[in-house]
Amino acid sequence: MKTMYWKDNKLFLIDQTRLPDEVIYYECKTYKDVIDAIKTMKVRGAPAIGIAAAFAMAMAEIAGEDMEKSANEIKNARPTAVNLSWAVERVLNSKSPIEEALRMYDEDVRTNMAIGKNGAAVIDDGDTVLTHCNAGALACVDYGTALGVLRAAHDEGKNIKVICDETRPLCQGARLSVFEMQQEEIPVKLAVDSAAGHLMQKGMVNKVVVGADRVAKGGVANKIGSLMVALAAKRFNVPFYVAAPESTFDIENSIYDVEIEERDADEVIYIGNTRIAPEGTEVENPAFDIIPSDLITGIITEKGIIKPF
Ligand code: MRU
Repeated sequence: MKTMYWKDNKLFLIDQTRLPDEVIYYECKTYKDVIDAIKTMKVRGAPAIGIAAAFAMAMAEIAGEDMEKSANEIKNARPTAVNLSWAVERVLNSKSPIEEALRMYDEDVRTNMAIGKNGAAVIDDGDTVLTHCNAGALACVDYGTALGVLRAAHDEGKNIKVICDETRPLCQGARLSVFEMQQEEIPVKLAVDSAAGHLMQKGMVNKVVVGADRVAKGGVANKIGSLMVALAAKRFNVPFYVAAPESTFDIENSIYDVEIEERDADEVIYIGNTRIAPEGTEVENPAFDIIPSDLITGIITEKGIIKPF
């Protein structure tokens, strides 16, 4: 099952806000529909929003829109993952936007399988691996980056167990990563975010593998909470890996210059339709944080495992 597909000049996306209860494809007829789907996180995860953005560019071209203007709107849908501007620029500089978007769609799956193969080498038989957020098939076109590493290790016959952090506030770990691991029949447990340090202190986690929204000079931006997991991993000598394709690399800039998306207060105040804090509560809701390079054991890419820079 693919996270998205292109048919009759329209983009169909699994509506990830409905998972795990319902698997429903949401139809985007215009590039503005895609922007809305990215903003409301019907589609999310750095590689997935990149490929959706590429198809949004193709739609803008078909509709005869001003391509530079559409490109800027699409790039600004979410600020932190570099894949958005990477994809938009690539389509903008191509001869045929549809063909380029389709090429990128196919490449995504091949890239993730290469990341999986490279990353599986650091996963040992018997490991329990903790992951944060969802860097799985649902965050890409298919297969996934961090969860791709776990898929590949499992497919190689390694007996692994996975712990998914729930990943408040939107619970991508609980809703999406657990769902994916269950589908693959990889043994999985769910833990609240604040249990990660305790589990490592007890020796219950052998490795951490997470994805990335941007890899730049000095570190990696990833889902809020990644920094605390990395700090705990350092303290308890648990190897901490980031799995990311080259499309997530921004080698010119410092990671500390990257804009960290701030999202709506209601994401924190409500769980589903239930309010969990007093009305009018003020909120901090940064969607990402920065993992400094010295906390990262290695970055698993489609070309091999590199040291953070
Ligand atoms: O806010 P989200 O759900 O888009 O955040 C996703 C993440 O932080 C992922 O870890 C990252 O995009 C890598 S996905 C392969």
